[in-house]
Amino acid sequence: MAILDKHKILETNATLLLVFSFLVVTIGGIVQIAPLFYLENTIEKVEGMRPYTPLELAGREIYIREGCYVCHSQMIRPMRDEVERYGHYSLAAESMYDHPFQWGSKRTGPDLARVGGRYSDDWHVDHLRNPEAVVPESVMPKYAFLEDTRIDGKYIEDLMRTHAFVGVPYSDEMLDNAQADFLAQADPDSDYDGLLERYGDKVNVRNFDGQAGISETDALVAYLQMLGTLVDFSTFTPDASR
Ligand code: HEC
Repeated sequence: MAILDKHKILETNATLLLVFSFLVVTIGGIVQIAPLFYLENTIEKVEGMRPYTPLELAGREIYIREGCYVCHSQMIRPMRDEVERYGHYSLAAESMYDHPFQWGSKRTGPDLARVGGRYSDDWHVDHLRNPEAVVPESVMPKYAFLEDTRIDGKYIEDLMRTHAFVGVPYSDEMLDNAQADFLAQADPDSDYDGLLERYGDKVNVRNFDGQAGISETDALVAYLQMLGTLVDFSTFTPDASR
C-alpha cells in the first residue's frame, strides 16, 4: 500500500522519526492531561472521610519514620484475589488527607489499608514488640522500643498546621485543641467529648498499649486501628455520574 511505502521514509530517517514520535506523544499527552484542568475535582466525595485525629497523625508520622511503607502497601487493587483477602478495594478519597500518600510499592508483609479493627490492641502491641511471638514465620523487625518512647503531643499542632497548609481541612477549633485531643484519645478516663465532637463518634478512645502514659506504640496502634474503617461499605455506592 502507498501509505506503507511512505512510512519507509520515516523509518529510515532518524531525525524525521524523532520529530514525528514527539508529535504523537505530545498529542497523546494533551488528550490525557487537558481534561483534568476542566474537572472541578478528580476525587469523588465519600461520606465518612475525616482528617486524622492528632494521635492518629502522630502514629502516621511514626509509621513513615520507621519505614513501614517499605514492606507494606496501603492500596487494595480492584482484583478479586485482593478484594477477597483484604476487603473492598481502596477508593481515591480514602487517601485524600494523606500527605504524602502511603500506597507503597512493595508487599513483603500484607497490605494494611484495611487492617483497622482486624486485630485487638493487645495483638498489635505483642506483634510490634516481637512479631515472631505472634506469627512464628514473620520476618518483620521488632519495634519494642516504641513502647518505651514517651510522647506528649507538644508539636502536634504545628504538624496539623502544616497539613492544613497543604489542604487538609483542620478547623481552628481542631488546631486550638490539638494537644488536648491528643492526650484525651489515649486516656478513656479523660473528658473526650470534645474530641468526638470534632472528629466523630467512631474515634477509638483507648489506652492502646495498656501502659500508663502515652507511648509511640499508643499513637501507632491508634493509627493502625483506624486504617480503612472510615467509609461504611455497607452503605457506600460508587457515584456513576462522573
Ligand atoms: C522488613 C519488612 C517489614 C517491615 C519494615 C515492617 N513489616 Fe509489618 N509485616 C511484615 C511481614 C512479613 C508481615 C507478615 C507476618 C507477620 O504478621 O508478622 C507483617 C505483618 C504486619 C501486620 C499484620 C498485618 C495482617 O493483616 O496480618 C501489621 C499490622 C504490621 N506488619 C505493621 C507494621 C508496622 C506498623 C511497621 C512499621 C513500624 C511494619 N509492619 C514494618 C514485614 C514488615
